[in-house]
Amino acid sequence: MTGAQHPVVDRDLEAQLLEAALLSGAHVLLEGPPGTGKSTLLRQVASGRHVPFVLVEGNAELTPARLVGHFDPALVLSKGYRPDIFVDGPLLEAMRSGGLLYVEELNRVPEETINVLLTVMSEAEITVPRLGRVPAAPGFGLVAAMNPYDAVGTARISSALYDRTCRIAMGYQSEAAERRILAMRTDCRDEPWRDRMVELVRSTRDHPDVRIGSSIRGGIDAVGLAGELARLRGVPLTDWTVGLQSAMAALTGRIRLQESCPRTPEDVVAELYEKAFGPRPDPENESGDAPPGEA
Ligand SMILES: Nc1ncnc2c1ncn2[C@@H]1O[C@H](COP(=O)(O)OP(=O)(O)OP(=O)(O)O)[C@@H](O)[C@H]1O
Ligand SMILES: [Mg+2]
Repeated sequence: MTGAQHPVVDRDLEAQLLEAALLSGAHVLLEGPPGTGKSTLLRQVASGRHVPFVLVEGNAELTPARLVGHFDPALVLSKGYRPDIFVDGPLLEAMRSGGLLYVEELNRVPEETINVLLTVMSEAEITVPRLGRVPAAPGFGLVAAMNPYDAVGTARISSALYDRTCRIAMGYQSEAAERRILAMRTDCRDEPWRDRMVELVRSTRDHPDVRIGSSIRGGIDAVGLAGELARLRGVPLTDWTVGLQSAMAALTGRIRLQESCPRTPEDVVAELYEKAFGPRPDPENESGDAPPGEA
């Protein structure tokens, strides 16, 4: 797996548990809301192990054939079902190389695909029709991530799967950790303003009208957007309206209101924005810096 690597903030215990679980040969379920660092953590642990890392996105289209692999249909016609024309899917790739298979959004994967994974987890091998038995090379491990709030639900994840994995729960992180994540993942150097954005994002998770709040991803987007918006308008980043409009764009789609709540997400984000950044300043002071009482 390539791509930019970002260090993991404040997940020492989870990193150690994951590392130990994989070293012990156990398979792992990372369970937590979106944006809580599951993928970031796994990438870091995988890169430290120097084993191949194969990532698959879990969704309804992840059929057993897509996961395991298939015979090249054109070559089957001319050559028949020979092992050398089998195209490995991500599972076989990870099994043959002793690598890590990372399945995101496991709860979205069709039942029959989960059954394939169950077999591999308990047998450490798989029998593919016309190809035969493929054993997992030493080091092979399965890590699956799952979001307990996903509309597709985690209820359908069977106890058979839980019984074959170690579960590492990844909740939302502390305010201090989220401040550090925002400092690391954005160009914004205005620490007090950034910290207020963290406060705003966190407040979406506690609001009584909100069922699911925003992860720190919403904060990363809001800060990035505000920086560009301020540049386009030639105003300071701390401009009150820039902050509000950026927060609206970054957060209103991410929060889910309670079913019975008559309010709109815009209304709730505006309320929370004012709590974090203060009320709209009067027009003479539109750059609307820190509320009174702060340096
Ligand atoms: N502990 C952390 N350390 C560093 N970055 C983090 C951490 N937690 C979250 N982030 C940042 O927040 C964003 C989301 O993190 P990540 O993709 O790892 O979440 P996830 O739990 O895999 O989410 P999903 O369930 O949606 O796949 C990334 O940009 C990541 O850099
Ligand atoms: Mg992820």
